[in-house]
Amino acid sequence: MSMPAEAPAFPIGRQCPYRPSQGYAEFRREGPLSRVRLYDGREAWLITGYREARALLADRRVSINPRVDGFPALSAEMAELENTGYTDVLIGVDPPVHTRQRTMLIPSFSVRRMNALRPAIQDIVDQRIDAMLAAGPPADLVAAFALPVPSMAVCVLLGVPYEDRDAFEGPARSLFDADPEQAADAMTALSDYFGQLIRDKETNPGTGLLDDLIAGQVRKGSLSREELVRYAMLMLIAGQDTTANVISLGTLALLEHPDQFAKLRDSPNLAPGAVEEIMRYVSLIEAISRVALEDIEISGYHIKAGEGLLIGAAAANFSTALVSTPEQLDVTRSPRHHLGFGFGVHQCIGQNLARIELELAFRTLTRRIPGLQLAVPASEIRTSVTGPMERLTTLPVTW
Ligand code: HEM
Repeated sequence: MSMPAEAPAFPIGRQCPYRPSQGYAEFRREGPLSRVRLYDGREAWLITGYREARALLADRRVSINPRVDGFPALSAEMAELENTGYTDVLIGVDPPVHTRQRTMLIPSFSVRRMNALRPAIQDIVDQRIDAMLAAGPPADLVAAFALPVPSMAVCVLLGVPYEDRDAFEGPARSLFDADPEQAADAMTALSDYFGQLIRDKETNPGTGLLDDLIAGQVRKGSLSREELVRYAMLMLIAGQDTTANVISLGTLALLEHPDQFAKLRDSPNLAPGAVEEIMRYVSLIEAISRVALEDIEISGYHIKAGEGLLIGAAAANFSTALVSTPEQLDVTRSPRHHLGFGFGVHQCIGQNLARIELELAFRTLTRRIPGLQLAVPASEIRTSVTGPMERLTTLPVTW
């Protein structure tokens, strides 16, 4: 097969903040795998085919460990993250160590446990909307709603007092876009905060995932305090900004498709399926990084051991192998097999929590503020790209 002389640069920017670049269509036309060039000049494989993306995410011959030579970081900041210890649990670890780590956490994320959090999350959503309505239009939906809802939900999950938010919200958000020194400072601040919280919880237990792990693992000696601090930090970082960005980008997508907004408002029972469609359409995480540990043959392509793989979740989510009309936002379908939460052993452990947050956020927002609309032209909405995802800085709305 023919390859371009110089591989195109990756990541490719978005023309529209709430959906992946149209540029992926060109890659897909070329075939399910393409060569791309990273920020540091190295090349890697970009996988845009839906079937190939799933197959490689489930393949034991690929590694998530950023310390393996050839691992493709998307930016210098992402490459630095491995030095902060962020990738020491789950997100940078292969089986069998990963399997042991994940097995310990799974009971705290069961569907039953997550459903038990529903009333608390509904309260959080309602409180934020009450506050917006009381203050009156206009509002910045990012600050008033999209950020606090996931932040409060992760606090409920972990058993972290939300009053302490100044100690963790800022550092958690500055990790991906800060310079290396600031990222290291943010990591230290988070680590100090959680270290103290865990010591307090040992004498004064509460209810939450951290309390479960203190009782079930730390006391038995099967988990150290330092490791528990790492889990707490990962949950906070992985669960907060991601969900906030899907709420804000998903709301923008709905406001830009008023027919879809109206469908969801008029048929609230569409919400669970609409969440899957919004996850697919927004495709927050553009690409998931892996490195081949062995030679792999796939769909006629030969991947060599040590080559970087960028599993193009966003591109694959726009494949006709997933939905027949990928370019349309259609809240009446429920494409549950999208790659927005990844796939395989590292598939998002918090997906059931995220689904509940998104369902309650979109359902309640459309029901309680049925006349929601943008307060500025869409072209004036500012975004920034942090690590593997797009983020809305503000979302000015009125009603
Ligand atoms: C809409 C919001 C979310 C999105 C888009 C998202 C996306 C993802 C993706 C794509 C992965 C796979 C990464 C990979 O394979 O390299 C992942 C893993 C993970 N997510 Fe999420 N996530 C979300 C919410 C959450 C929440 C709420 C939590 C926890 C409270 C969470 C915790 C994690 C953790 C710990 C992992 C690593 C799992 C492992 O390696 O076994 N995420 N997430």
